[in-house]
Amino acid sequence: MQTLAQTNRQIKVYTNVVQTFYAAKPGLARARSSAKESVVGPLTPAEVEREARARLPPETWDFIQGGSGAERTLAANLAQFGRYALRPRVLVDVSACDPSLELLGDRLSAPIAIAPMAYHQLAHPEGELATARAAGRAGLPLVAGIFASRTLEEIAAVATGPLWLQLYWLRRREALAALVERAEAAGYRALVLTVDAPRVGRRLRDVRNGFTVPEGVRAVNLDPSLMAASHRRTEGASGIEAHAREQFDPTLTWDDLAWLRGRSSLPLVLKGILTAEDARRAADHGAAALVVSNHGGRQLDGAPPTLAVLPEVVGAVPADLPVLVDGGVRHGTDVAVALALGARAVLVGRPVLWGLARAGEAGVEQVLGLLRSELEDAMALLGRPRLRDFDRSAVAHWDHGM
Ligand code: FNR
Repeated sequence: MQTLAQTNRQIKVYTNVVQTFYAAKPGLARARSSAKESVVGPLTPAEVEREARARLPPETWDFIQGGSGAERTLAANLAQFGRYALRPRVLVDVSACDPSLELLGDRLSAPIAIAPMAYHQLAHPEGELATARAAGRAGLPLVAGIFASRTLEEIAAVATGPLWLQLYWLRRREALAALVERAEAAGYRALVLTVDAPRVGRRLRDVRNGFTVPEGVRAVNLDPSLMAASHRRTEGASGIEAHAREQFDPTLTWDDLAWLRGRSSLPLVLKGILTAEDARRAADHGAAALVVSNHGGRQLDGAPPTLAVLPEVVGAVPADLPVLVDGGVRHGTDVAVALALGARAVLVGRPVLWGLARAGEAGVEQVLGLLRSELEDAMALLGRPRLRDFDRSAVAHWDHGM
């Protein structure tokens, strides 16, 4: 048997050999350190984003990442979080931080939900099934999109967390009515009507790419005749935009909401509110919750960053009407800022698709886990161990940018 001293000597010799070897080959040393990273896994959404990009075709990547017009609103959503600093309070007992809450009748492990996004199969073959499983394990809701690439029933069969269904108002109302009926039968818990899309914004990346939804990926919850334009390729035009012009109902007004509410007993959430005026109208029209959203900068370019108008919306509605926000949430500390400005919860979009593209279900779970644990850390370090401890005093304007 070898003595401890002999073993140590051997390790030292081995270490010297390895160091000399890598010193002579700097490229390999880099490869070695990235292998170490991969054991830990990505620790920020930005790292997940880099890995996701490498896995997706450029046109798909552009569809996911892009915004409309000059992408000013897209950039502003992200930048706005840097305009606030968090104000920590000290000597508070933070031995038990609890980010859980009740929302629309369900207990959530944190004030975070997955934003509705079309066609998860663009990111991973399992599509919404992987996302739903991951959301369920994280104890967080998934908002399934009307253009989901798996059926509402398949998604419900694997989900263990709350599901909400997002709708665009189609010209063919009977198609909407059928979806609502199916969602209710499958146990969905809320309807989320997206109200910022009488048509789809001009997304220049998609126009340049002549983007269409690839044949193997389909919005399987709708009749194929309603979706054909999304797959029809035209040089220099976006199939997504052409489809919306053909199928979305641009005549929709507040008065039409009664029709939808009459079709379902599910709570109705309005997504895409950016002003106090509309927030008041939404409350008057029986909305169960609002989402302050500019669609991740994909609709009206020049619309304000969501965080900037969140306080105005919160101030315009009764305190018991939950106001959610999305757009640019990339860290647990971003969630903390949103809570301080009055949000009940946030929706997260692109980072979820990055996780999905990187590693399917595990990738989504990892992104959600990162956000949740970062939020819990922030709660402890801010001296605000419960969600009700968050108020305007938790943030300060920080003009220099963070
Ligand atoms: C979206 N979003 C969206 N919203 C919606 O109401 N219905 C939809 O079908 C889609 N589809 C969609 C696809 C993709 C690829 C993206 C990136 C986004 C908007 C989404 O719900 C959310 O508002 C934003 O994504 C939030 O911004 P972040 O988190 O992506 O910055």
